[in-house]
Amino acid sequence: MTDSHDALAHFLAAHSNLLVLTGAGISAPSGLPTYRDENGSWLYRKPIQHRDFLTRESTRKRYWARSTLGWPAVRDASPNEAHCALQKLEKKGQLELLVTQNVDRLHQRAGSRRVIDLHGRLDRVRCLDCGALASRESLQETLASANPWLSADSGEARPDGDRDLPDDTLARFEIPSCARCTGVLIPDVVFFGGSIPPARHDSCNAALDRADALLVVGSSLQVYSGYRFCRRAKELGLPLVIVNPGKTRADDIADMRIAQTAAEAFASVQV
Ligand code: APR
Ligand code: ZN
Repeated sequence: MTDSHDALAHFLAAHSNLLVLTGAGISAPSGLPTYRDENGSWLYRKPIQHRDFLTRESTRKRYWARSTLGWPAVRDASPNEAHCALQKLEKKGQLELLVTQNVDRLHQRAGSRRVIDLHGRLDRVRCLDCGALASRESLQETLASANPWLSADSGEARPDGDRDLPDDTLARFEIPSCARCTGVLIPDVVFFGGSIPPARHDSCNAALDRADALLVVGSSLQVYSGYRFCRRAKELGLPLVIVNPGKTRADDIADMRIAQTAAEAFASVQV
């Protein structure tokens, strides 16, 4: 492991066609909590499973009630200097592609254009019946007006900013339906147990085939869809550098792990 700032500077100077993979750690300074701690253990409640969302109305109620309360924090979050550093790298022509596991769209808000949201995007919802797409923001008003009794202090506060809502509160929660066909709405993200659209994966793999190195920023790599880029990079003989304060699943195959947050590591690198 190394924690030398200039190690990152040298790495960036030596590679002009990077694939960058980011995770929740890069958005933590923007106020959006990570899922796991520095040991890779879950910090909070286990995530919603794709299958449960499809088959259980109680899961959909829990999801949409928590989302009604939690969406404003995501909508109002701002990109931080690490997002901006990666945007500058793109502007300098040094990025083949930025693949993010985050669903917060902060890279795009920082001005990055060459971005693939590997796990989808929270600012959009999709109808499972007719496929219509709608903005999540347009739904917020509907959710709030259909559930006027739900407020920011409903239930119990949780450390991740979410709220634990009692079953009777959830039972009365009115979940939204598609404005076009009254079908079931789902956020345009990949839940656990869901699959990443093959075309999205193919684009990421094709970009990795063209890249000259893989840089991972702010991810524990506990989820296979992120970790597999590291495996493939090594199969392709590409250098793999990880910037992350916590342990990651790919530490044993990385050429270098800089044990710092993205903000710290990029702070003194003149991008
Ligand atoms: N503050 C806190 N943690 C940070 C910071 C920071 N400033 N910078 C980096 N980290 C590190 C944590 O130590 C942790 O190792 O960021 C990492 C975040 O790891 P995870 O929470 O597991 O996030 P991520 O790797 O993006 O998770 C991948 O798992 O839950 C699913 O779909 C979800 O996209 C997510 C995927
Ligand atoms: Zn519909």
